[in-house]
Amino acid sequence: MHRSRDLGGLVFLDLRDRAGLVQVSFDPGTAGADTSALAASIGAETVVVIEGTVAERPQAMKNADMATGAIEVRATSLRVVGPAVTPAIPVARGKSAELPAEELRLKHRHLDLRRDDLQRNLVLRHRLMQTTRRFLSDMGFLEIETPILTKPTPEGARDYLVPSRVHPGEFYALPQSPQIYKQLLMVAGYDRYFQIARCFRDEDLRADRQPEFTQIDVEASFVTQEDIVDIAEEMIRALWIEGGSSVPDGRVRRMTYADAMEQYGIDRPDLRYGLQIENVSDVFRGAEFVVTKTALDAGGRVRGIRIPGGAALSRKQVDEIEAVAKSAGAVGLLRLKRVNGVLEGPPAKFLADGAGDGLNLAEGELGLYVAAADHISNPALDRVRQDVASRMNLVPSGVNEFVWVMDFPMFERNPETGALAAVHHPFTAPNPDDLALLESEPWKARALAYDLVLNGTELGGGSIRISDPTVQAKIFGLLGIDDATAQTRFGFLLEGLRAGAPPHGGIAFGFDRIAMLLAGATSLRDVIAFPKTTAARALFEGAPSIVPPNDLKDLHIKLES
Ligand code: AMO
Repeated sequence: MHRSRDLGGLVFLDLRDRAGLVQVSFDPGTAGADTSALAASIGAETVVVIEGTVAERPQAMKNADMATGAIEVRATSLRVVGPAVTPAIPVARGKSAELPAEELRLKHRHLDLRRDDLQRNLVLRHRLMQTTRRFLSDMGFLEIETPILTKPTPEGARDYLVPSRVHPGEFYALPQSPQIYKQLLMVAGYDRYFQIARCFRDEDLRADRQPEFTQIDVEASFVTQEDIVDIAEEMIRALWIEGGSSVPDGRVRRMTYADAMEQYGIDRPDLRYGLQIENVSDVFRGAEFVVTKTALDAGGRVRGIRIPGGAALSRKQVDEIEAVAKSAGAVGLLRLKRVNGVLEGPPAKFLADGAGDGLNLAEGELGLYVAAADHISNPALDRVRQDVASRMNLVPSGVNEFVWVMDFPMFERNPETGALAAVHHPFTAPNPDDLALLESEPWKARALAYDLVLNGTELGGGSIRISDPTVQAKIFGLLGIDDATAQTRFGFLLEGLRAGAPPHGGIAFGFDRIAMLLAGATSLRDVIAFPKTTAARALFEGAPSIVPPNDLKDLHIKLES
């Protein structure tokens, strides 16, 4: 029972179920005086069973704002089957409804899930899941489940560990992804696999990250990058059509990782607006300006973004943008603007006459620059770009800019230690054209890896895998994983690769992210029935929780107090 009105004699109840609302009227003449009195007495959220007749409402009583506003149910009987205590939070309807704080809503999730927005999102999620299954199954992919109690999988986050009771001191790990299993399924000859797979990662959470989340996980044998890209684009198209959103005409555009980093400072660029990063080092090379000189002398670069209309931003606003750059690691943000034809800003007087500002700033434009090594200027300028775009309302609504980012490097090199880490994961195949680089400058070698990005969100990523055990051993070596460690951690994969492995590759999509974007939601929590907070807590169930000492003892665990 969503809402009741007692008009003295005539009682109206709005009943709510998955399909929406319907008005029920209780007229003592038809329903009886007792039933009408009972109807008047029940509180919100009570579960009732009503019998009655569907009838057209009198003309004056019709409500055009309500889907069922032309009819009502004239009740003849009423039974209370689920009395309800006063709800801890109201079950509001409509987007404009002022919602209680999210923490309260998560705590009383069973009530919040009664809200029409969340119901719509979960119905959409269901439909997207069925579309995925139908699409991949029709393409000959087999849905195969893989274990949840497993060994650590290297996807770059910490593992959730589960202690073994029967094997003291040993632990299972929850899978960060089914990566190794899907490769072994290819080794085993299953050819085309998919799974709507639950993954677990203990990492810092954000609005688009949950500690447990769902992937559309795909792998196929005898495929090239192009095959995976084709299948993925078709699947995304099917999902976007199901979600009622606009799909790109023709093929999704592509960009190399190198271009993405150079022009946008990030490997998942938001292409809905311009504000590209430009390298202006040459203009500053001769300038006796200490900030840029120090950076250039240390082998860094000066890179900047031209902001049309940016000269109108106040000093305070630009200070705020600078704070964003600093929080991303930059020492500062240089500014130049052209006002009344004159270049203004701290570096202006150091620039040679006629040398320009590097960005060709026109009247009213602002240039924002970071002078540093790329590993510092990339994240800083990425954040500046995003901040300026939202601050100046440059992000168009209803636009979907998909892009494949291709040619990822195999490794990233720690700027301090020089140690190599896998950019994708250690099973990613090197680009055959770059095999020689693995011997000389491995950090320059490209991988056969690709990510699909939409409006700055990474929807999915994958790669062609190493199917040759000697190449796999070589990559482990470069990653500093010695033979013994490789054997302990990934022995079952290596054994598989030695047992006759077809060439194979695949991709995984963040299913929750897809559902979130198609639902028009801004948090994964709005498309997951029982999500965790950013502190990785389940407020509704109250997890994680303390367990009785005896349970710990059974698990051979002693807590440090
Ligand atoms: P990757 O780690 O890129 O690849 O994950 C694939 C996609 O999963 C989504 N995703 C997440 N969604 C919600 N919360 C998280 N914490 C989270 N982490 C990742 C993203 C991402 O693009 N095994 C490889 C895939 C492969 O190589 O086939 C893998 O897991 O949308």
